[in-house]
Amino acid sequence: MNLASRTTRITPSPTLQLSATVKSLVAQGQRVFDFTAGEPSFDSPDEAKHAAITAIQAGFTKYTAVTGIDELKDAIIEKLQRDQGLTYSRSQIVVSCGAKHTLFNLALALFEAGDEVIIPAPYWVSYPEQILLADATPVFLQTSEAKNFTIDLAALKGIITERTKAIILNSPCNPTGSMYNRETLEDIAALALQHNLLVISDEIYERMVYDEHRHYSIATVHPDMMDHTIIVNGVSKTYSMTGWRIGYAAGPERILKAMGNIQSQSTSNPTSIAQKAAVGALNGGTQFINHMVKELGMRRQAIVEGLNQISGIHCPMPAGAFYAFPNVSDLCGRRFEGKVLSTPLDLANFFLNEAKVACIPGEPFGTDSHLRFSYTGPLSVIEEGLHHLAQAIARLE
Ligand SMILES: Cc1ncc(COP(=O)(O)O)c(C=O)c1O
Repeated sequence: MNLASRTTRITPSPTLQLSATVKSLVAQGQRVFDFTAGEPSFDSPDEAKHAAITAIQAGFTKYTAVTGIDELKDAIIEKLQRDQGLTYSRSQIVVSCGAKHTLFNLALALFEAGDEVIIPAPYWVSYPEQILLADATPVFLQTSEAKNFTIDLAALKGIITERTKAIILNSPCNPTGSMYNRETLEDIAALALQHNLLVISDEIYERMVYDEHRHYSIATVHPDMMDHTIIVNGVSKTYSMTGWRIGYAAGPERILKAMGNIQSQSTSNPTSIAQKAAVGALNGGTQFINHMVKELGMRRQAIVEGLNQISGIHCPMPAGAFYAFPNVSDLCGRRFEGKVLSTPLDLANFFLNEAKVACIPGEPFGTDSHLRFSYTGPLSVIEEGLHHLAQAIARLE
């Protein structure tokens, strides 16, 4: 029996795999300084928990409308109006089991063999794999650390072909933490409109933004862009609700209807209880988010300063999200006990074995010069982990 060829096109999520390795080491009683997590270490907000408990007690435990309950769609519509100044109707919203599921529905609804989808690199690991699962071709647009990992417009123009159907933007970006300013988004929007491209705007980290930086949705930068943009968002990061699995898309009705049809024949509705929890979170005010972002801001400062004190590591200050993305090219090629550590993957394995520091190598994000350190854990873990990291690096020949 042969497996379907699509299974050989993709690899399992390396970030989830590494997190699982760390969890099993911890279960064996080992102390690991874990910088792999793609989730905040904060508890979910009380508003979400209470709404979920009330839902269970009231027996709200049955199938719901496939694309989400009206109450949640209305909370999402209100959020998009409040934060982005964008007006959507219920038929333009689909709620799914996390933003990853939203993006997968979107890939199936939009792409097929022959389509090209532009992904700026470094990128979140699931974009290319989902495009491959939809039989389409990911086309990578390399960005550079020197230009804050934002798109070079001439380079973007250069890779658009008549097969290009969409471009994926992720601002703030996982893994780089970089963000697009309004001017760059206007330039990208002008190109998208000129070439009739769709923009998939993954805004899942929109609230994790620091210093003077500000999040803009590309849907807002030109009156015609709402018709060319599918906004993807969810409650996982903003409300520290990764396990509840609620994500959503907002965009042109024809596309959202197709996504809803796909969902109706695959997963049906996202969990009824989690939908109620998401309503609680979205309508619960900004106190929770403000507190979390303040804390994350301190951890960002600590990790970036700490990493930059280690010889051989250079770490730019990320504008948003919760990842530090240090450049380790000066360490690649160094030796440990006679063995050359050539790549970020070699370094990540060395750090895990010798320092019990777990981070994600750059390769699955499309770079061979960087590592990704999530700074969602407590300051004490950051400080102690970096101390062990520095000691291990000092042992390299
Ligand atoms: C850029 C980006 N998009 C989407 C997701 C998916 O989030 P979820 O499926 O938990 O809503 C993640 C999670 O790590 C992410 O980093």
